[in-house]
Amino acid sequence: MSNKPKVLVARAIFPDLLAKLEESFEVRSNQADEVFTAEELQKELSSAAGALVTGSERIDATALANAKNLKIVANISVGYNNFDVPAITAAGVMASNTPDVLTDSTADFGFALLMATARRVTESERWIRDGKWDKWSIVSNPLGMDLHHTTLGIIGMGRIGQGIAKRALGFGMNVIYHNRSRLPEADEKACAAKYVSKEELLRTADHVVLVLPYTADNHHTIGAKEIALMKPTATLVNIARGGIVDDAALAQALKEKKIFAAGLDVFEGEPKVHPELLKLSNVVLAPHIASATEKTRRAMIDLAVENLRAALAGKKPPSLINT
Ligand code: DGY
Repeated sequence: MSNKPKVLVARAIFPDLLAKLEESFEVRSNQADEVFTAEELQKELSSAAGALVTGSERIDATALANAKNLKIVANISVGYNNFDVPAITAAGVMASNTPDVLTDSTADFGFALLMATARRVTESERWIRDGKWDKWSIVSNPLGMDLHHTTLGIIGMGRIGQGIAKRALGFGMNVIYHNRSRLPEADEKACAAKYVSKEELLRTADHVVLVLPYTADNHHTIGAKEIALMKPTATLVNIARGGIVDDAALAQALKEKKIFAAGLDVFEGEPKVHPELLKLSNVVLAPHIASATEKTRRAMIDLAVENLRAALAGKKPPSLINT
């Protein structure tokens, strides 16, 4: 019997990083990468001293019911809406996430989605594959919306939101933002962004990007009423979380051309996608990949492991959530 602490790795990770972990811990790994059911997760956590989890694992009082030895749940993710933080704290367990290491990759992808949505990139590709490109045309090939020298509205101005704002400077964009609290003047200056109300942002932005954390307070913060405030030429990009946007209302608005297009990396109830969205050509769909470069995913795992190692050594994890 090994006397190494038991660690659960709830989803597949890169084999070399798993092997490294196995040098220090008795690892129960889920390299099959099938998402555990709630019952399976509860059972898996019951014998673990530490766990590496992702947004697919809901960590709440039920998951922790038999987790008598658990010291930390280390999310391989910056967002932690999969955590019931009060329940985790009440169970005497530490919770951590992976901020900073994914900021630039996620901001890059936010910009990629903004461009693909405004310039109809994926729709154009489908158009070619469907054999519809028979000639170059001034008027009838897919015409998009400009990004350069337009107004970008960012809702959620944390590290990733600010990263997108800085990228927008290179496109000569006018950046407005809305956030729970206004940024310090120096940070506003660094990304040349102006604070406005959510309503003003929705009314005036040519492109709206959502980068806010998902909380109980902002469920469906963008629904039919909010979309109705937007310009008919505007685009909406969601790289935050499904649930922030009412996907049914968005699909209806896109169908009725109330806005020009949307780009979605996250969905309510993902990996399921609202069936009406799948029927539309004016929406770009991505499978929650904003942080998905190998370099960044490795950095996320490394930070989660650092958090786990610290907790199991009786130290404070570098990105502890429940201080
Ligand atoms: C994050 O880190 O929050 C990404 O969305 C992956 O879950």
